[in-house]
Amino acid sequence: MSPIYHRPDLAHDMAKQLLSPGVLDQGLRSGLFLSGLRRTGKSTFLRQDLIPALENAGALVVYVDLWSDVSADPSTLIHAALRSALKELQSASGTVLSRLKRIKSLDVGGAGFTFGFEIADLGTANSVTIAQVAQEVIGQAKTDLVFIVDEVQHMLTSDAGIALMQAFKAARDAVNLTPDTPGHFIFIGTGSHRAQVVGMTVQGKNAFEGATSVDYPTLGEDYVEYVLQTLHQEGVKVIPSQPVASHAFGLLGRRPEELVRALRTLQKYQPQEADLYLPVIAATLKEAAADIEIKKIEELGDLACAVFGRVANAEVEASGLFSASALGAYSSMPHGCREAGRLLLPRGLWCPTCCRWPGLSCP
Ligand SMILES: Nc1ncnc2c1ncn2[C@@H]1O[C@H](COP(=O)(O)OP(=O)(O)OP(=O)(O)O)[C@@H](O)[C@H]1O
Ligand SMILES: [Mg+2]
Repeated sequence: MSPIYHRPDLAHDMAKQLLSPGVLDQGLRSGLFLSGLRRTGKSTFLRQDLIPALENAGALVVYVDLWSDVSADPSTLIHAALRSALKELQSASGTVLSRLKRIKSLDVGGAGFTFGFEIADLGTANSVTIAQVAQEVIGQAKTDLVFIVDEVQHMLTSDAGIALMQAFKAARDAVNLTPDTPGHFIFIGTGSHRAQVVGMTVQGKNAFEGATSVDYPTLGEDYVEYVLQTLHQEGVKVIPSQPVASHAFGLLGRRPEELVRALRTLQKYQPQEADLYLPVIAATLKEAAADIEIKKIEELGDLACAVFGRVANAEVEASGLFSASALGAYSSMPHGCREAGRLLLPRGLWCPTCCRWPGLSCP
Protein backbone atom coordinates (compact mmCIF):
# COMPACT_ATOMS: atom_id res chain seq x y z
CA MET A 1 0.00 0.00 0.00
CA SER A 2 1.14 3.51 -0.76
CA PRO A 3 2.47 5.44 2.24
CA ILE A 4 0.33 8.33 1.00
CA TYR A 5 -3.41 8.23 1.56
CA HIS A 6 -4.97 9.82 -1.52
CA ARG A 7 -8.16 11.87 -1.54
CA PRO A 8 -9.17 11.79 -5.22
CA ASP A 9 -12.85 12.58 -4.60
CA LEU A 10 -12.09 15.69 -2.57
CA ALA A 11 -9.51 16.79 -5.16
CA HIS A 12 -11.89 16.11 -8.05
CA ASP A 13 -14.67 18.15 -6.40
CA MET A 14 -12.30 21.03 -5.67
CA ALA A 15 -10.92 20.99 -9.22
CA LYS A 16 -14.45 21.04 -10.61
CA GLN A 17 -15.43 24.00 -8.41
CA LEU A 18 -12.31 25.88 -9.42
CA LEU A 19 -12.46 25.22 -13.15
CA SER A 20 -16.23 25.27 -13.67
CA PRO A 21 -17.62 27.25 -10.75
CA GLY A 22 -21.38 27.44 -10.32
CA VAL A 23 -23.11 30.70 -9.49
CA LEU A 24 -22.34 30.35 -5.78
CA ASP A 25 -18.67 29.54 -6.39
CA GLN A 26 -17.89 32.46 -8.69
CA GLY A 27 -15.80 33.94 -5.85
CA LEU A 28 -13.18 31.28 -6.58
CA ARG A 29 -12.35 33.12 -9.80
CA SER A 30 -11.03 35.92 -7.59
CA GLY A 31 -8.57 33.51 -5.94
CA LEU A 32 -8.61 30.74 -3.37
CA PHE A 33 -6.64 30.92 -0.13
CA LEU A 34 -6.34 27.75 1.96
CA SER A 35 -4.90 27.85 5.44
CA GLY A 36 -4.14 25.02 7.84
CA LEU A 37 -1.93 24.14 10.77
CA ARG A 38 1.64 23.04 10.22
CA ARG A 39 2.41 19.44 9.19
CA THR A 40 -1.22 18.55 8.51
CA GLY A 41 -0.59 17.54 4.88
CA LYS A 42 -1.33 20.70 2.89
CA SER A 43 1.55 20.38 0.42
CA THR A 44 1.02 16.63 0.07
CA PHE A 45 -2.61 17.17 -0.81
CA LEU A 46 -1.73 19.84 -3.36
CA ARG A 47 0.98 17.80 -5.05
CA GLN A 48 -0.47 14.32 -4.81
CA ASP A 49 -4.17 14.99 -5.32
CA LEU A 50 -5.22 18.50 -6.31
CA ILE A 51 -2.62 19.15 -9.02
CA PRO A 52 -3.25 15.76 -10.74
CA ALA A 53 -7.01 16.42 -10.56
CA LEU A 54 -6.60 19.88 -12.12
CA GLU A 55 -4.30 18.50 -14.82
CA ASN A 56 -6.63 15.62 -15.58
CA ALA A 57 -9.38 18.18 -16.06
CA GLY A 58 -7.19 19.82 -18.72
CA ALA A 59 -5.77 22.78 -16.76
CA LEU A 60 -2.18 23.99 -16.90
CA VAL A 61 -0.69 24.15 -13.42
CA VAL A 62 2.33 26.04 -12.14
CA TYR A 63 3.27 25.16 -8.55
CA VAL A 64 5.82 26.81 -6.31
CA ASP A 65 6.59 26.21 -2.64
CA LEU A 66 8.02 29.37 -1.11
CA TRP A 67 9.44 27.37 1.79
CA SER A 68 11.50 25.23 -0.59
CA ASP A 69 14.22 27.87 -0.07
CA VAL A 70 13.36 30.38 2.64
CA SER A 71 16.54 32.34 2.01
CA ALA A 72 15.49 33.10 -1.59
CA ASP A 73 13.26 36.04 -2.42
CA PRO A 74 9.73 34.76 -3.13
CA SER A 75 9.73 36.50 -6.51
CA THR A 76 12.91 34.65 -7.55
CA LEU A 77 11.28 31.28 -6.81
CA ILE A 78 8.06 32.23 -8.57
CA HIS A 79 9.81 33.44 -11.71
CA ALA A 80 11.95 30.30 -11.76
CA ALA A 81 8.82 28.11 -11.58
CA LEU A 82 7.17 30.13 -14.34
CA ARG A 83 10.24 29.96 -16.59
CA SER A 84 10.44 26.20 -16.17
CA ALA A 85 6.71 25.76 -16.96
CA LEU A 86 7.05 27.92 -20.09
CA LYS A 87 10.11 26.00 -21.29
CA GLU A 88 8.16 22.79 -20.91
CA LEU A 89 5.38 24.26 -23.09
CA GLN A 90 7.92 25.18 -25.79
CA SER A 91 8.91 21.56 -26.13
CA ALA A 92 6.87 19.72 -28.75
CA SER A 93 7.48 16.39 -27.01
CA GLY A 94 6.84 17.67 -23.47
CA THR A 95 4.41 15.83 -21.21
CA VAL A 96 2.27 18.93 -20.69
CA LEU A 97 1.62 19.40 -24.41
CA SER A 98 0.94 15.68 -24.89
CA ARG A 99 -1.63 15.88 -22.09
CA LEU A 100 -3.31 18.96 -23.58
CA LYS A 101 -3.47 17.24 -26.98
CA ARG A 102 -5.01 14.16 -25.37
CA ILE A 103 -7.46 15.80 -22.95
CA LYS A 104 -8.36 19.03 -24.72
CA SER A 105 -7.72 17.82 -28.31
CA LEU A 106 -5.39 20.80 -28.69
CA ASP A 107 -3.96 21.13 -32.17
CA VAL A 108 -0.50 22.73 -32.18
CA GLY A 109 0.84 20.74 -35.13
CA GLY A 110 4.28 19.24 -34.60
CA ALA A 111 5.62 22.24 -32.69
CA GLY A 112 5.50 23.48 -29.13
CA PHE A 113 4.27 26.91 -28.06
CA THR A 114 6.05 30.01 -29.32
CA PHE A 115 6.06 33.13 -27.20
CA GLY A 116 6.49 36.76 -28.17
CA PHE A 117 8.92 37.35 -25.28
CA GLU A 118 12.16 35.90 -24.01
CA ILE A 119 11.54 33.38 -21.24
CA ALA A 120 14.97 34.09 -19.78
CA ASP A 121 14.00 37.76 -19.29
CA LEU A 122 11.17 36.94 -16.88
CA GLY A 123 11.82 38.53 -13.54
CA THR A 124 14.23 41.13 -14.98
CA ALA A 125 13.59 44.79 -15.74
CA ASN A 126 13.12 43.94 -19.46
CA SER A 127 10.50 41.35 -18.72
CA VAL A 128 6.91 41.25 -19.90
CA THR A 129 4.30 41.24 -17.14
CA ILE A 130 2.69 38.14 -15.64
CA ALA A 131 -0.57 39.34 -17.22
CA GLN A 132 1.00 39.27 -20.70
CA VAL A 133 2.50 35.83 -20.03
CA ALA A 134 -0.85 34.49 -18.80
CA GLN A 135 -2.70 35.90 -21.80
CA GLU A 136 -0.24 34.36 -24.28
CA VAL A 137 -0.25 30.98 -22.56
CA ILE A 138 -4.03 30.81 -22.23
CA GLY A 139 -4.47 32.06 -25.80
CA GLN A 140 -2.38 29.18 -27.14
CA ALA A 141 -3.36 26.46 -24.68
CA LYS A 142 -7.06 27.37 -24.79
CA THR A 143 -7.45 26.22 -21.24
CA ASP A 144 -7.24 27.47 -17.67
CA LEU A 145 -3.93 28.41 -16.10
CA VAL A 146 -3.77 27.63 -12.37
CA PHE A 147 -0.97 29.23 -10.38
CA ILE A 148 -0.44 27.63 -6.96
CA VAL A 149 1.77 29.33 -4.39
CA ASP A 150 2.43 27.23 -1.29
CA GLU A 151 3.23 29.19 1.89
CA VAL A 152 1.85 32.23 0.12
CA GLN A 153 2.16 34.45 3.23
CA HIS A 154 5.92 34.41 2.57
CA MET A 155 5.27 36.75 -0.38
CA LEU A 156 4.59 39.50 2.12
CA THR A 157 8.17 39.32 3.37
CA SER A 158 9.70 41.24 0.46
CA ASP A 159 8.80 44.26 -1.66
CA ALA A 160 9.27 42.16 -4.80
CA GLY A 161 6.88 39.54 -3.37
CA ILE A 162 4.24 42.17 -2.59
CA ALA A 163 4.63 43.66 -6.08
CA LEU A 164 4.19 40.17 -7.54
CA MET A 165 0.89 39.73 -5.68
CA GLN A 166 -0.28 42.87 -7.50
CA ALA A 167 1.02 41.38 -10.75
CA PHE A 168 -0.98 38.17 -10.12
CA LYS A 169 -4.09 40.23 -9.50
CA ALA A 170 -3.49 42.19 -12.70
CA ALA A 171 -3.08 38.88 -14.59
CA ARG A 172 -6.31 37.55 -13.08
CA ASP A 173 -8.24 40.65 -14.10
CA ALA A 174 -6.66 40.92 -17.55
CA VAL A 175 -7.58 37.32 -18.39
CA ASN A 176 -10.82 36.76 -16.53
CA LEU A 177 -12.43 40.04 -17.54
CA THR A 178 -11.72 39.49 -21.25
CA PRO A 179 -14.99 38.56 -22.97
CA ASP A 180 -14.95 35.03 -24.41
CA THR A 181 -11.55 34.23 -22.90
CA PRO A 182 -10.49 30.69 -23.96
CA GLY A 183 -9.44 29.98 -20.36
CA HIS A 184 -9.24 31.58 -16.92
CA PHE A 185 -6.38 32.55 -14.62
CA ILE A 186 -6.88 30.91 -11.25
CA PHE A 187 -4.72 31.75 -8.26
CA ILE A 188 -4.45 29.42 -5.27
CA GLY A 189 -2.45 30.36 -2.20
CA THR A 190 -1.94 28.06 0.76
CA GLY A 191 -0.17 28.57 4.02
CA SER A 192 0.40 27.56 7.60
CA HIS A 193 0.05 31.01 9.07
CA ARG A 194 -3.74 31.26 9.29
CA ALA A 195 -3.99 34.89 10.36
CA GLN A 196 -1.65 36.05 7.60
CA VAL A 197 -3.20 33.88 4.88
CA VAL A 198 -6.74 34.94 5.77
CA GLY A 199 -5.47 38.53 6.09
CA MET A 200 -4.37 38.43 2.44
CA THR A 201 -8.03 38.33 1.38
CA VAL A 202 -9.44 40.97 3.69
CA GLN A 203 -10.04 44.62 3.04
CA GLY A 204 -7.07 46.90 3.05
CA LYS A 205 -4.15 47.20 0.71
CA ASN A 206 -4.22 43.51 -0.19
CA ALA A 207 -4.11 42.63 -3.87
CA PHE A 208 -6.48 39.70 -3.35
CA GLU A 209 -9.01 41.50 -1.20
CA GLY A 210 -12.35 39.72 -1.59
CA ALA A 211 -10.88 36.38 -2.71
CA THR A 212 -12.19 33.18 -1.14
CA SER A 213 -10.51 32.03 2.05
CA VAL A 214 -11.19 28.56 3.49
CA ASP A 215 -9.67 26.15 5.97
CA TYR A 216 -7.62 23.31 4.52
CA PRO A 217 -9.68 20.11 4.88
CA THR A 218 -7.60 18.03 7.28
CA LEU A 219 -7.29 14.26 7.07
CA GLY A 220 -10.06 12.40 8.87
CA GLU A 221 -11.28 9.00 10.06
CA ASP A 222 -10.83 7.47 6.60
CA TYR A 223 -7.11 8.24 6.80
CA VAL A 224 -6.86 6.59 10.23
CA GLU A 225 -8.72 3.56 8.90
CA TYR A 226 -6.27 3.37 5.99
CA VAL A 227 -3.29 3.50 8.36
CA LEU A 228 -4.73 0.71 10.55
CA GLN A 229 -5.46 -1.41 7.49
CA THR A 230 -1.88 -0.93 6.33
CA LEU A 231 -0.59 -2.02 9.77
CA HIS A 232 -2.74 -5.18 9.58
CA GLN A 233 -1.45 -5.94 6.07
CA GLU A 234 2.15 -5.47 7.17
CA GLY A 235 1.62 -7.85 10.10
CA VAL A 236 2.27 -5.22 12.78
CA LYS A 237 1.56 -6.73 16.22
CA VAL A 238 0.16 -3.92 18.36
CA ILE A 239 -2.77 -2.22 16.63
CA PRO A 240 -5.35 -0.02 18.38
CA SER A 241 -9.06 0.00 17.58
CA GLN A 242 -10.37 2.56 15.10
CA PRO A 243 -12.14 4.85 17.66
CA VAL A 244 -9.09 5.00 19.93
CA ALA A 245 -6.75 5.68 16.98
CA SER A 246 -9.11 8.39 15.63
CA HIS A 247 -9.26 10.06 19.03
CA ALA A 248 -5.45 10.00 19.26
CA PHE A 249 -5.17 11.47 15.73
CA GLY A 250 -7.45 14.33 16.78
CA LEU A 251 -5.40 14.90 19.92
CA LEU A 252 -2.28 15.10 17.78
CA GLY A 253 -3.72 17.91 15.68
CA ARG A 254 -4.50 15.57 12.74
CA ARG A 255 -0.82 15.37 11.88
CA PRO A 256 0.09 12.12 10.05
CA GLU A 257 3.71 12.12 11.25
CA GLU A 258 2.62 12.38 14.88
CA LEU A 259 0.14 9.51 14.53
CA VAL A 260 2.82 7.30 13.00
CA ARG A 261 5.22 8.27 15.80
CA ALA A 262 2.61 7.35 18.42
CA LEU A 263 1.90 4.01 16.72
CA ARG A 264 5.62 3.26 16.58
CA THR A 265 5.96 3.94 20.31
CA LEU A 266 2.95 1.68 20.93
CA GLN A 267 4.91 -1.32 19.65
CA LYS A 268 6.69 -1.53 23.05
CA TYR A 269 3.47 -2.84 24.60
CA GLN A 270 1.40 -6.02 24.36
CA PRO A 271 -1.30 -6.27 21.65
CA GLN A 272 -4.10 -6.29 24.25
CA GLU A 273 -2.71 -3.08 25.79
CA ALA A 274 -2.99 -1.03 22.55
CA ASP A 275 -6.18 0.86 23.40
CA LEU A 276 -4.98 1.48 26.93
CA TYR A 277 -1.62 3.01 26.01
CA LEU A 278 -2.26 4.88 22.74
CA PRO A 279 -4.20 7.73 24.45
CA VAL A 280 -1.39 8.13 26.98
CA ILE A 281 1.29 8.18 24.27
CA ALA A 282 -0.71 10.69 22.22
CA ALA A 283 -1.22 12.97 25.24
CA THR A 284 2.51 12.81 26.03
CA LEU A 285 3.50 13.63 22.46
CA LYS A 286 1.06 16.52 22.41
CA GLU A 287 2.50 17.91 25.61
CA ALA A 288 6.06 17.49 24.35
CA ALA A 289 5.15 19.39 21.18
CA ALA A 290 3.59 22.20 23.22
CA ASP A 291 6.73 22.33 25.37
CA ILE A 292 8.89 22.78 22.28
CA GLU A 293 6.72 25.68 21.13
CA ILE A 294 6.83 27.30 24.57
CA LYS A 295 10.58 26.86 24.69
CA LYS A 296 10.90 28.74 21.40
CA ILE A 297 9.05 31.66 22.98
CA GLU A 298 11.16 31.51 26.11
CA GLU A 299 14.29 31.69 23.99
CA LEU A 300 13.07 35.02 22.62
CA GLY A 301 13.24 36.50 26.12
CA ASP A 302 11.03 37.85 28.90
CA LEU A 303 9.18 40.35 26.76
CA ALA A 304 8.15 37.67 24.26
CA CYS A 305 6.84 35.54 27.16
CA ALA A 306 4.87 38.49 28.48
CA VAL A 307 3.30 39.20 25.09
CA PHE A 308 2.57 35.50 24.60
CA GLY A 309 0.94 35.44 28.03
CA ARG A 310 -1.36 38.26 27.05
CA VAL A 311 -2.33 36.56 23.78
CA ALA A 312 -2.87 33.18 25.50
CA ASN A 313 -5.03 34.68 28.21
CA ALA A 314 -7.21 36.73 25.90
CA GLU A 315 -10.79 35.56 26.20
CA VAL A 316 -11.70 36.26 22.58
CA GLU A 317 -8.95 37.73 20.44
CA ALA A 318 -5.85 39.46 21.73
CA SER A 319 -5.85 43.14 20.93
CA GLY A 320 -4.18 46.23 22.26
CA LEU A 321 -0.82 44.50 22.58
CA PHE A 322 0.83 47.92 22.52
CA SER A 323 -1.71 49.72 24.71
CA ALA A 324 -0.63 51.50 27.90
CA SER A 325 -2.22 48.82 30.10
CA ALA A 326 -0.49 46.06 28.12
CA LEU A 327 2.88 47.80 28.40
CA GLY A 328 2.28 48.22 32.14
CA ALA A 329 1.51 44.52 32.53
CA TYR A 330 4.65 43.53 30.59
CA SER A 331 6.88 45.72 32.73
CA SER A 332 5.44 44.33 35.98
CA MET A 333 6.29 40.78 34.95
CA PRO A 334 9.06 39.20 37.03
CA HIS A 335 12.27 38.17 35.30
CA GLY A 336 12.46 34.67 33.93
CA CYS A 337 9.61 32.87 32.28
CA ARG A 338 9.66 29.59 34.03
CA GLU A 339 8.88 29.18 37.65
CA ALA A 340 8.80 25.69 39.06
CA GLY A 341 9.08 24.36 35.49
CA ARG A 342 6.07 26.20 34.18
CA LEU A 343 5.51 29.19 31.99
CA LEU A 344 5.02 32.28 34.10
CA LEU A 345 2.51 34.70 32.65
CA PRO A 346 2.34 38.43 33.34
CA ARG A 347 1.21 39.40 36.81
CA GLY A 348 -2.52 39.95 37.00
CA LEU A 349 -3.32 37.17 34.56
CA TRP A 350 -1.35 34.51 36.37
CA CYS A 351 -3.22 33.57 39.54
CA PRO A 352 -0.92 34.41 42.49
CA THR A 353 -2.78 32.06 44.85
CA CYS A 354 -3.17 28.80 43.03
CA CYS A 355 -0.58 29.38 40.32
CA ARG A 356 -2.93 27.99 37.71
CA TRP A 357 -2.83 28.93 34.09
CA PRO A 358 -4.84 30.67 32.81
CA GLY A 359 -5.31 32.73 35.96
CA LEU A 360 -8.62 34.05 34.68
CA SER A 361 -10.41 30.74 35.30
CA CYS A 362 -8.86 29.77 38.63
CA PRO A 363 -11.17 28.22 41.23
N1 LIG B 1 -2.35 12.01 2.76
C1 LIG B 1 -1.28 11.64 3.47
N2 LIG B 1 -0.99 10.34 3.68
C2 LIG B 1 0.10 9.99 4.40
N3 LIG B 1 0.98 10.86 4.92
C3 LIG B 1 0.75 12.17 4.73
C4 LIG B 1 -0.38 12.63 4.01
N4 LIG B 1 -0.37 13.97 4.00
C5 LIG B 1 0.72 14.32 4.67
N5 LIG B 1 1.41 13.27 5.10
C6 LIG B 1 2.70 13.31 5.83
O1 LIG B 1 2.63 14.35 6.80
C7 LIG B 1 3.83 15.11 6.79
C8 LIG B 1 3.49 16.56 6.56
O2 LIG B 1 2.96 16.70 5.25
P1 LIG B 1 3.07 18.06 4.43
O3 LIG B 1 4.48 18.48 4.29
O4 LIG B 1 2.29 17.84 3.19
O5 LIG B 1 2.30 19.02 5.40
P2 LIG B 1 2.23 20.61 5.37
O6 LIG B 1 0.96 20.96 6.04
O7 LIG B 1 2.44 21.10 3.99
O8 LIG B 1 3.46 20.96 6.29
P3 LIG B 1 4.24 22.37 6.45
O9 LIG B 1 3.46 23.14 7.46
O10 LIG B 1 5.60 22.00 6.95
O11 LIG B 1 4.26 23.03 5.09
C9 LIG B 1 4.74 14.50 5.73
O12 LIG B 1 5.64 13.62 6.36
C10 LIG B 1 3.78 13.73 4.86
O13 LIG B 1 4.38 12.62 4.25
MG1 LIG C 1 3.76 22.52 3.20
